[in-house]
Amino acid sequence: MKRRVAVLISGRGSNMRSLLAACADAAFPAEIVQVLSNVPAAPGLAAAADAGIATAVVDHRRFGRDRAAHEAAVQAVLHGAGAEVVCLAGYGRLLTPYLVGLWQGRMLNIHPSLLPAFPGLRTHERALAAGAKLHGCTVHVVTEATDEGPILAQAAVPVLPGDDADRLAARVLAAEHRLYPAALAAFIRGDAAPAPAGAVLFNPLPGSAGSD
Ligand code: GRF
Repeated sequence: MKRRVAVLISGRGSNMRSLLAACADAAFPAEIVQVLSNVPAAPGLAAAADAGIATAVVDHRRFGRDRAAHEAAVQAVLHGAGAEVVCLAGYGRLLTPYLVGLWQGRMLNIHPSLLPAFPGLRTHERALAAGAKLHGCTVHVVTEATDEGPILAQAAVPVLPGDDADRLAARVLAAEHRLYPAALAAFIRGDAAPAPAGAVLFNPLPGSAGSD
């Protein structure tokens, strides 16, 4: 049985589209039942709607500084969709402990660096400035500390002579599009053991081990 996944986006949604493409395979253990954006004009929303996926906008600007109210509205959509797993895919909001706690062990994120290197923003610029020879992307379980949750999967790409941030970002993004579906599938099947040991916050989905 496919697990019901909601994807949270804020922008172009290319990772969401890679997940959507993977879900089209009958053997893939997930289906996307909801795409939600905090940005009404996010291009990824149209792509999701074109694919026949339910979309929702919960514009954070309507809630002013009340992050809890915004997240409660997001949660209402996730709950209404019957989501079992949430994938952050370029979601540009820092989450509070409220939403992270509700989805503990069931919310994943993709980050454009080889964590723990370069958490936060402008990862490609910072990797170039640091003289890194390898860069890449990470899928991790979301915890309260931004970009610090247990790592599920990583993909490395080389930093090549003459790279600028855009060229490097494009190489990383291509790796992201392969990594996120693979990591999600492994997570759902119970094959992805989070690291590091000793800080395991991972709760396998009930009844997920070894099943589709
Ligand atoms: C990706 O680089 C992802 O790693 C980061 O935000 C970007 C989102 O891109 N969290 P897209 O919207 O999936 O195209």
